[in-house]
Amino acid sequence: MASVLIREAKEGDCGNILRMIRELAEYEKLSDQVKISEEALRADGFGENPFFHCLVAEILPAPGEPQGSCMVGYGLYYFIYSTWTGRNIYLEDIYVKPEYRGTGQDWGGKKSSPHRLPHLLPLNRSLWSFLIPFSSDNPSFCFFLPTSGQGIGSKIIKKVAEVALDKGCSQFRLAVLDWNKKAMDLYKALGARDLTEAEGWHSFRFEGEAMRELAGK
Ligand code: ACO
Repeated sequence: MASVLIREAKEGDCGNILRMIRELAEYEKLSDQVKISEEALRADGFGENPFFHCLVAEILPAPGEPQGSCMVGYGLYYFIYSTWTGRNIYLEDIYVKPEYRGTGQDWGGKKSSPHRLPHLLPLNRSLWSFLIPFSSDNPSFCFFLPTSGQGIGSKIIKKVAEVALDKGCSQFRLAVLDWNKKAMDLYKALGARDLTEAEGWHSFRFEGEAMRELAGK
């Protein structure tokens, strides 16, 4: 059976990460706000003083399976500082491709088309040799036959918690849109507290003209 590996992203993953950043923004109905480029991700995440770190979830083929690995999710985080508690970690994005979400039977992809394909087509070497070139460059071509859910999102979150503790962080923060109940339920199930509910925090940002005006530039 194919398995999931959560690993640190490499510079060469930036193209796939950017595609998933766009998919997440589309899910959040905020696609128009994505201005980042692959070059910026490469420069900002993989230079001498990286502005962010990223984990990726990769499905690895079982021994003997002919297809390559494929990337199905990511978690992008960075370090922040609290005047109350010191070192903290902030999870900016977490995303798992729709066909690979969940912890139950659905991981096989009731909703998916691409990786149901092998169920429908005879699995022979010549078919794979035709399909594999598409899958290596295009993450939407992912030909795996998962048999049960793997909780990939939870695995990413657990890995971020591990990094946080290893780096001496006492808090692990993130923000989620108020309608994204499924994600909120997951965070709560894993033990996070909803700070808006508990303490009434609102999230603010300065941007564009407001920032330039403030800076007098
Ligand atoms: N689809 C299915 N289940 C979901 C979803 C979803 N969109 N979101 C949360 N869940 C819940 C379910 O209760 C599920 O449990 P179940 O399978 O037993 O029913 C459980 O969480 C899933 O847990 P995992 O399998 O560990 O997590 P998953 O691999 O589904 O990843 C994630 C969770 C990242 C939220 C994923 O569902 C996703 O990418 N959703 C769309 C994008 C999104 O909402 N990202 C988070 C935005 S907030 C931020 O980025 C900080």
